[in-house]
Amino acid sequence: MKDFIAGLPKCELHLHIEGTLEPELKFELAGRNGLELPYSSVEEMRAAYAFDSLPSFLKVYYEGMQVLRTEPDFYDLAMAYLRKAAEQNVRYAEIFFDPQAHTSRGVPFDVVIRGLRRALMDAEARLGVRAQLIMCFLRDFQAEYAMATLLESLPYKEWIAGVGLDSDEKGNPPVKFAAVYERARQEGYLLTMHCDVDQENSIEHIRQAVEDIGVNRVDHGVNILEDQRLVEVVLERGMGLTCCPISNGYVTDSMKSEAIRKLMDLGVRVTINSDDPAYFAGYVGENLEALQGALQLTHEELAQLERNAFEITWLPRHLKDAYL
Ligand code: ADE
Ligand code: ZN
Repeated sequence: MKDFIAGLPKCELHLHIEGTLEPELKFELAGRNGLELPYSSVEEMRAAYAFDSLPSFLKVYYEGMQVLRTEPDFYDLAMAYLRKAAEQNVRYAEIFFDPQAHTSRGVPFDVVIRGLRRALMDAEARLGVRAQLIMCFLRDFQAEYAMATLLESLPYKEWIAGVGLDSDEKGNPPVKFAAVYERARQEGYLLTMHCDVDQENSIEHIRQAVEDIGVNRVDHGVNILEDQRLVEVVLERGMGLTCCPISNGYVTDSMKSEAIRKLMDLGVRVTINSDDPAYFAGYVGENLEALQGALQLTHEELAQLERNAFEITWLPRHLKDAYL
């Protein structure tokens, strides 16, 4: 089974590039930029990755990315992930980035996107991994800052497939960003947003994302099972959910494998992804292995999860078909 999963052509749709920053690279970038880290070794840093909720994870995540300062830093970050992706037979990835996590501490938007874009181009040419960027807004910042970020992104529109929404969900519902998402749609961006697992008001947030905002897909979204009517809406529209089993186990009490099984059985386009693999100790291959172990998935079911992912990518139809 391990070999089957390793050989399966994969598609990753829920991956925060800042969440792929491994401790080793963190130390390298800190050295390059003359920064002190509050840890004396990689082991000590990893030992501090003890989260039990979304906010406790986010604190470490934002702290960790402060070593990213220059265009080459963002290039190296993305290139390291894309090398890992190639090793795991990921053929295509849609990669989230959090520009406001950088612009809010003085790193210009163009430094971030140019570094990431250059890595994506090199990875396609050298590693045969295709990827696109999804720009996420931080939902715990004001909607006005998201709108300003959206406007700042417009000169780079050709480099960005769509927009997402992440960070701390508590008190930050989808409708807070209704105007931003409307403008993003008008600009031609595709739309997704996080509805994290077991948050306060998860099901109402899913309803707002699907019905009020009209997203193309939902990141996480497993709580949709609480409302059969919404499950039917998602089935009718053929929408996908980007689920992240190992991540679920860090920010809630379980991987939510039974919920994922139910969604698969209902015919929802469930996909399996790694979220923040440097922090949750598992890339997409390990996520598939963990879920397979929990649910005794067959070869055919594993292949179906990857077909679901390729099917809901934001690629033009002819490129999508080339993977299916
Ligand atoms: N930012 C990075 N990873 C995230 C996650 N899993 N949920 C919300 N915001 C995030
Ligand atoms: Zn996420």
